[in-house]
Amino acid sequence: MEKKKERKNKYIPNLAEFYFKPDYDWSIEEAKKLFSSKKNKNLDKIFYKDCVDGMRDLLPESIDLIIADPPFGLDFTGKESLYNRNSEYVVDGYQEIKITDYKKFTSRWILEIPRILKTHGSAYIFSGWTNLLPILQSIEESGLILRNHLIWQYNFAVFTKKKFASSHYHILYVVKDEKNVFFNRIKHYETDTWTISRKYKPNQTKNGTKLPNDLVRKCINYSSKPGDLVLDPFTGNATTQIASKGEFRHYIGFEINKNVRETIENNLDSIKEGENYKPYHERISSIEELAKKYPKTYDVYKKKIIKDSNIS
Ligand SMILES: C[S@@+](CC[C@H](N)C(=O)[O-])C[C@H]1O[C@@H](n2cnc3c(N)ncnc32)[C@H](O)[C@@H]1O
Repeated sequence: MEKKKERKNKYIPNLAEFYFKPDYDWSIEEAKKLFSSKKNKNLDKIFYKDCVDGMRDLLPESIDLIIADPPFGLDFTGKESLYNRNSEYVVDGYQEIKITDYKKFTSRWILEIPRILKTHGSAYIFSGWTNLLPILQSIEESGLILRNHLIWQYNFAVFTKKKFASSHYHILYVVKDEKNVFFNRIKHYETDTWTISRKYKPNQTKNGTKLPNDLVRKCINYSSKPGDLVLDPFTGNATTQIASKGEFRHYIGFEINKNVRETIENNLDSIKEGENYKPYHERISSIEELAKKYPKTYDVYKKKIIKDSNIS
């Protein structure tokens, strides 16, 4: 079905997405060209070193987007049995931060962001709820502007008897310059609560924790263009780098745990450049998909279309 653009139909609740046009869009050829034109020998690399040292080596205003999922200061090794997984597949050496050092550690890396971020750039900083305060304090100290406090709700919670089982992370979406920030609205209506499942891949070697690819791709698609440079200071399994490569974005990453190198290299080899890229208008739900999701609204819409066509 042709995508209609008449304004009068835009505000039908639940079906408005059908009439929506993303702010920026690129064909596959355009995205590929942008990506290829910015290729150079210093990009698309993971450096096995402390991220603060690594960030200090980066040129000023060189990064378009930062996705940072630091250790949460929870005395975590990735091998805990409460996470219901076979610890023999978890790579040793996950670097946690002692709770007593957490504020100092957090300030050190967050204070590096304003220098390396481009004026239009943004950062998504992940945090558990227990050590959220040092992250918020460090954001304030850095002068970065908090644009959204997103909640990622996931489908897994460790059972608790005397309190609510926790099943969310915080994502602090911060920018350097509110007036010049790049933000591509790719969906008509997006709230600040994202429900995305964690997919479990049993019997695969992995780093202690892993974000879902879809979650990271969402940040990348809203806040960068094809060919842009995405930095992840805490690479882990290379979820950010895989998402970037698959969406025609360049990447740089730091990871202190050298044991995870082989897993990272295998993960990166498993995806082709631009493999997941699709022009944004093609990612919008079709009227058939929306009709299935909102059958009552679709009935009203059909009646309105018939009525309008009888009038004209
Ligand atoms: C929460 S995990 C990141 C997981 C990743 N987002 C993923 O989806 O796989 C944090 C990672 O940061 C690494 N790390 C801890 N301190 C670091 C530091 N100072 N510099 C670089 N990496 C560090 C840990 O070894 C761990 O692999």
